[in-house]
Amino acid sequence: MSSLATGTAVGGATLGEGVVHVEMANGTRATLHVLALRDACACAECRHSVSGQRLFESLQVLPGARAEAVRVSDAGLLEIDWADGHRSSYRPEWIEAEVSAAENGRRPARRVRPWGGDLPEHRWSDVANDDGARTVWLRDVAEFGFAVLHGVPCEPGFVERVATLFGAVRETNYGRVFDVSVAVDATNLADTALPLSPHTDNPYRDPTPTVQLLHCLASDVEGGSTVLVDGFAAAGRLRDEAPDGFELLARTPIRFAYRDGDADLEADTPVVTCDADGNVVALHLNNRSKGIPSGDAAHVAAWYDAYLALLALIESPELQLVFRLEPGDLIVFDNLRLLHGRTGFAGEGTRLLQGCYADRDGLLSRLTVLERPAT
Ligand code: OGA
Ligand code: ZN
Ligand code: ZN
Repeated sequence: MSSLATGTAVGGATLGEGVVHVEMANGTRATLHVLALRDACACAECRHSVSGQRLFESLQVLPGARAEAVRVSDAGLLEIDWADGHRSSYRPEWIEAEVSAAENGRRPARRVRPWGGDLPEHRWSDVANDDGARTVWLRDVAEFGFAVLHGVPCEPGFVERVATLFGAVRETNYGRVFDVSVAVDATNLADTALPLSPHTDNPYRDPTPTVQLLHCLASDVEGGSTVLVDGFAAAGRLRDEAPDGFELLARTPIRFAYRDGDADLEADTPVVTCDADGNVVALHLNNRSKGIPSGDAAHVAAWYDAYLALLALIESPELQLVFRLEPGDLIVFDNLRLLHGRTGFAGEGTRLLQGCYADRDGLLSRLTVLERPAT
């Protein structure tokens, strides 16, 4: 055991049975398992110098890995001597992050910000030309689940150019870019003037596209307002009000389907998806393409109770944001967090949106790279 003066991050470390007890200078403690520590060794023998990727196979090294001695170096590094002669050292910031993950039971995630106050609004000319503006725009999409861009050139196909600012377009059977406009031979209710209740797109795809862009090119009709609902907030309320119902929606797969002349898509997925920590990470909800639950009548009855309660929450005005997309406006949104819809429209004029799909991981990657401190 050795300890350092306060002010350094790692205060002390002792070896236990298959574990290392670490105490930080600020008093927090955690017990880290030797297998995880050996697995995380970042020395030049264990990691590729350029990519940082692991060079050894876990199966070769971890069985029988035994720590013989631990200490904190004068420079504040945690050092471990292994029985086979290998030596590892761990930076205090790394130890601090591991101690905090052990204490909280999870690693830090980008925050999900609840809505309130102003719309997250940005201008195309800023985000196209300035990394700082692009960072704030993408951070709004990541944290609020959406952002509105104004001043996007009303050129057909431009939505694809906007997507390439943060990632790759996810092409589907609707094309790289699809039109949402009134069509006489519509195979999808989206291509009529009917209202669309708040929904996530394409729940019949596996994997479902996680990001969607919609660009307004023309809108001189009466009605056709955009409706957005924070699905995570609605699901959170359901969990508070009816925890059993929430669990049922999270456990019951529903078959979503889409069919036309040359596509036949089906996916089984629950309406609510939680991660291993129980956080809501996705909704799949779409009145047009939803199938029905199977199981005994009591299960089906309980499922509908929960589903209808969720729909009622989604319809409640305080969870809805209603605004008009004008020509030159474009929304980017998280298709698994946000429910989007529109009011019906009428009249002589034209309403034309163009959309495309992209993915959350690409957007978050672009954002994280933009957020890296300048070197
Ligand atoms: C859709 C859709 C929104 C709109 O086509 O799936 O949600 O405003 N359209 O027309
Ligand atoms: Zn090593
Ligand atoms: Zn849609």
